Amino acid sequence: MPKVLIVGGGGREHALADALHRGPQAPQILVSPGNAGIVAPWRRAPASDVDGWVDLAKAEDVDLVVVGPEAPLVAGLADRLRAERVPVLGPSAAAAELEGSKTFAKEIMTAAGVPTARWGSFTDVETATAFARSLPMAVVKADGLAAGKGVVVADDRQQAEAAIAASLDGAYGEAGRRVVVEERLIGEELSVMALTDGQAVAVLAPSQDHKRVGEGDQGPNTGGMGAYSPTPRATASLLAEIEATCLRPVVDELGRRGRAFSGVLYAGLMLTDDGPKVLEYNVRFGDPEAQAILPRMQSDAYTLFRAVADGRLDPSTVAFDPRAALTVVLAAEGYPSRPRTGDPIQGLAEAAGRPNVRVFHAGTALDESRVVTAGGRVVAVTGLGPRLRDAATEAYDAVSLVSWPGMHYRRDIGHRALEPAAG
Ligand code: AMP
Ligand code: GLY
Repeated sequence: MPKVLIVGGGGREHALADALHRGPQAPQILVSPGNAGIVAPWRRAPASDVDGWVDLAKAEDVDLVVVGPEAPLVAGLADRLRAERVPVLGPSAAAAELEGSKTFAKEIMTAAGVPTARWGSFTDVETATAFARSLPMAVVKADGLAAGKGVVVADDRQQAEAAIAASLDGAYGEAGRRVVVEERLIGEELSVMALTDGQAVAVLAPSQDHKRVGEGDQGPNTGGMGAYSPTPRATASLLAEIEATCLRPVVDELGRRGRAFSGVLYAGLMLTDDGPKVLEYNVRFGDPEAQAILPRMQSDAYTLFRAVADGRLDPSTVAFDPRAALTVVLAAEGYPSRPRTGDPIQGLAEAAGRPNVRVFHAGTALDESRVVTAGGRVVAVTGLGPRLRDAATEAYDAVSLVSWPGMHYRRDIGHRALEPAAG
């Protein structure tokens, strides 16, 4: 029986464990650091840095490491594992710079001819501000990793200029001492992830994320309050176009630069009137997009991920359940600014016991034998059904069983796809 180490401790990593577990290979699963959802026969191991995970992978003699979050990839975890001959799903630090530096990502897009917003990269306020003034509407992004913060979609000139000054002044630490300023794009957002071994590209089921904390896309940005898959906007021809214009060219460009990308390549896109344009790349599964697409994956996750790690990905082996999935994130009081932790959670087992539902833990911990909140995004509940509307019913019926003091969630996940089309 193969053994897999999953690095990370959120809902995405719980969904990865679930996907790996379901396949015919049914590997032994170890999650580090994991959360309270990782229960026997799975195991948890405490580690929190590259050295710790490399030691763990060696000590446990694992057959595959799947890296959930971006920070360990940017810090070189995959390189260290490859040096130890441990197969890993995740790119090298050189390829992960695609997420680690927005300037680098923009340079790659420009060189590869990928459609994206007009941009500039700056370290001083005057030139950044002058460029922002040349754009109809500006978006200001800290260059480095800023834990999902660091992007300001400005509504007016003052906001853009304040964002430039704040970032360059150290609001996001070193990550923001350089900023990318770009044109604000208008349209609907779409997430498209692909597996690639640097040669073959296998596009996964498309999904849509909901970044704002409040219903109707109001309030501050979050890591993501819900997701659904598939999306009616992402037709087969649009996905083929996205593969050809937004995914394949970056894989090739990185290869030409000696930074071959192996792992999960995630394109965050805006569907504009001029066609799809890339907002950003991530170098890993999205969270909560993974909680919506992995339950639909019919291919054996272990076999598929190992094939990517070994450089022998065959895109024809990737298959998805035609049913729809819809994921609702349940968040703690105070999320996203100051989530309260330590609240006991009721109803998880009842929700998880329903057919067509999967409950993924994110910020949870065990307090004696009780499961308590331990982060901002606490649990993700995914419903599956023949149509998106059925998946939503399954998900929200299960959500109604879960509670803790201060729990909040959006009741409108999937609204764009569920509302009758306007016009
Ligand atoms: P990013 O981390 O680059 O994906 O940015 C976070 C969010 O900001 C995206 O999901 C979009 O909602 C928004 N965003 C980023 N870039 C742009 C842009 N050029 N135009 C409009 N919205 C954007
Ligand atoms: N949900 C967006 C992300 O994972 O970056």
